[in-house]
Amino acid sequence: MEPTTIVLFGATGDLAKRKIYPALYNLFLDRKLPSDFTLVGLGRREVPVDVFRANVERSLREFSRREGSNSAAVSQFVQSFYYQVLDVGHSEDYDRLLRFVKEREAGYGAVANRLFYLSVGPEFFGPIAENIKASGLGSDCGWKRLVIEKPFGYDLASARALNAKLSESFAEDEIYRIDHYLGKPMVQKLEVLQQNNPVLQALWTNRYIANVQITASETVGVEQRAAYYDQSGAIRDMFQNHMLQLLMMLTSQLPTNSSAEQVRFKKRKVMEALEPLHRQQVGTQIIRGQYAEGNLKGQPVAGYTEEPGIAATSMNDTYIAAKLQIDDYFWRGVPFYIRTGKRLQEKATRIVIEFKEPLQQSAKHPLVPKTPNLLIFDIGPDEGITLQLNARDPKDKGAIKPIHINFHEQTEDMPEAYESLIRDAIAGDPTFFAHWDEVELSWQWVQPILEAFAANEVPLHRYEAGTWGPAAADELLAADGFRWWQDEQQEQLAPAAAAAQLA
Ligand code: BG6
Repeated sequence: MEPTTIVLFGATGDLAKRKIYPALYNLFLDRKLPSDFTLVGLGRREVPVDVFRANVERSLREFSRREGSNSAAVSQFVQSFYYQVLDVGHSEDYDRLLRFVKEREAGYGAVANRLFYLSVGPEFFGPIAENIKASGLGSDCGWKRLVIEKPFGYDLASARALNAKLSESFAEDEIYRIDHYLGKPMVQKLEVLQQNNPVLQALWTNRYIANVQITASETVGVEQRAAYYDQSGAIRDMFQNHMLQLLMMLTSQLPTNSSAEQVRFKKRKVMEALEPLHRQQVGTQIIRGQYAEGNLKGQPVAGYTEEPGIAATSMNDTYIAAKLQIDDYFWRGVPFYIRTGKRLQEKATRIVIEFKEPLQQSAKHPLVPKTPNLLIFDIGPDEGITLQLNARDPKDKGAIKPIHINFHEQTEDMPEAYESLIRDAIAGDPTFFAHWDEVELSWQWVQPILEAFAANEVPLHRYEAGTWGPAAADELLAADGFRWWQDEQQEQLAPAAAAAQLA
């Protein structure tokens, strides 16, 4: 691997400590980092380099999936870490940074690549990119790449403005937009599963699929992020990015051995085929919710508007459920129900594919109650695939009952999303990053929702913390003759329970 310098903006921040340093450390242990590697951490505060390195070590002990206490490996790892003070608006700081980076790179004996990782608020993306270009940090090197994290904009107009600004300094193929859901192993598996299993390929159409349900439920509330979350809501925080990316990854019909370009092309096609939502339809296809006080795992929890930093009058959405339709050959007529929310009953990201009923029901063994075939992808925190089939139960007079075929992955030793994403960014593989086309089309799709929410044109359903969200979200499916699969059936769908049933 070629010599590489990572220039990390926001080096003392939370994301760096929790995700970036542990990911780099694990890549280092797996020998997936270049041997000539330097990380220059940047922050506003003066921090001596030994204190910075000690802080990195502490974050490894706290957050690395592998032992951060292997002292020899850790000491060797942090030797590549340096720190510089930088105020994002001060051009002379970038000049000093360039001199420092060049000094480090001089020892390599080969031209180094530079990866600029912006782990800072989006308001700084534009000024930083501009200064990287103006100072020459982006020239006189091997490749240069920019890694940024959502939010990419606040709405369609601001996202376009931000992208236009970034494009003045970086080409699209130099910009790696992280959506950490694309780094989750099960999400990355969806492509391979489809391509290598004729069974799935044959079933992946509106002929057999009745509906698809995508859920990302969280038990946490707003946490210490009131200022950000109250401006963002579930729609910007989860739906516009993670949830629509899951939809794209699931429904793109990808050719075998598809290149990053083909993946992007197919994902864009899905977004282009999404039936646009008009502002008048928001009230019928979108459910907006906000958690009220309730109980979670036996503990009383406060309602959203009682949380520190949230105004009592806040109308922010902590829950959203939506019905979407993809108008293409494969998916026409299949409703996609997507929901995400905070302070729900369970922490789980899950895709449930419900198949159509048999063309003819057996008069001898009617399916009562309705138990369709389900294919379930558990994306996190548990990883697994479950297939629900109907079988005869000899212990119950031969009644037809659902059985579950279950595959459950041990996740403890699995690389974290950030590991594979940072490795891909260094290797120059953009497959699992969000391309601007997808980002723009996603904002375009949600824009009428943002406007309807801002104008308070749709009801805000208060739901009790610790439940599955507002009843209105059940009605969204009931109107089409469906129901969410995991509410009462949760124990059946939970991988551990399903495995026990098999045993
Ligand atoms: C982040 C959101 O992008 O994703 C958070 O900003 C959310 O609000 C988190 O909690 C959920 O990620 P995961 O991987 O825990 O499902």
